Amino acid sequence: LEIPEFAHLAYEVEEGLALVTLKRPEALNALSQDLLQELAEVAEVIAQDPEVRAVIFAGEGKAFAAGADLKEIAALKDPFAAREYALLGQQVFAEIAALPVPTIAAIHGYALGGGLELALACDLRVAAKGAKLGLPEVGLGLIPGFGGTQRLPRLIGRGRALDLILTGRHVPAEEALALGLVNRLGEDALEEAKKLARQILKNAPVALALAKESVVRGEGLDLAEALEIEADLFGYAAATEDMREGVRAFLEKRPPGFRGE
Ligand code: HXC
Repeated sequence: LEIPEFAHLAYEVEEGLALVTLKRPEALNALSQDLLQELAEVAEVIAQDPEVRAVIFAGEGKAFAAGADLKEIAALKDPFAAREYALLGQQVFAEIAALPVPTIAAIHGYALGGGLELALACDLRVAAKGAKLGLPEVGLGLIPGFGGTQRLPRLIGRGRALDLILTGRHVPAEEALALGLVNRLGEDALEEAKKLARQILKNAPVALALAKESVVRGEGLDLAEALEIEADLFGYAAATEDMREGVRAFLEKRPPGFRGE
């Protein structure tokens, strides 16, 4: 597996857990087009690496990510170029959202605009106490364009999403937890994310992939269709060796030893 040289992010894998660290700390990890491109590349690497069983996205320095790079946005020449720019970010985040393994955003400092939209493309979000989250785009004459107007209402509901989108306010981590925008708070976002990943990784790998697939594929469907998919995927899960092992281990009162088969 060929891993490209990244200029704006770091990628490492330890015991099945991949860590992607945004590395433009001088600009609070603002998502330049080069960085977005590298996020697409790293998503491709992760998708092809059978060793990776979960992914954490984090930011180096003072913030997770303070949004799309406003210098690049200022240089967009016309509405058509701006539309292409939105599509670029949407596509990158769609690739991250489509990863088969669980993904966690570890948010400290700020997750604003495109930075929050990256976190919304992840399955789970943990935040450090003191972190601030928001979609401040309307204060700049913009709207969220990397998926924020769609993923935020799907996650926390239309009314609560519109509060954030129309005020553009910075939401403190504690409120983000109450809104369901983040799943957990910790003193240290990365440590908390690793703790959550370890909890997830105790479970059967194929079951994890199927469970995520069921949730993701069901999202755009009506309930009856989505339930059919759930039943199909349940069938696949029940056909795995790990299912036999998991149930046997329960009956024998011992921890399971899953092999991902
Ligand atoms: C480019 C950014 C940036 C950004 C911060 N910086 N955010 N550069 N794009 N989004 C740079 C600053 O210019 C500054 O560089 C350095 O990072 C440190 O930032 P400061 O503002 O000095 O830090 P601080 O006073 O601590 O304030 C932190 C902050 C503020 C509250 C997060 O930086 C801020 O409001 N940033 C912009 C947040 C935002 O509006 N995001 C949404 C972007 S629009 P220098 O060189 O001066 O030291 C978006 C659209 C997505 O995301 C969809 C597009 C289709």
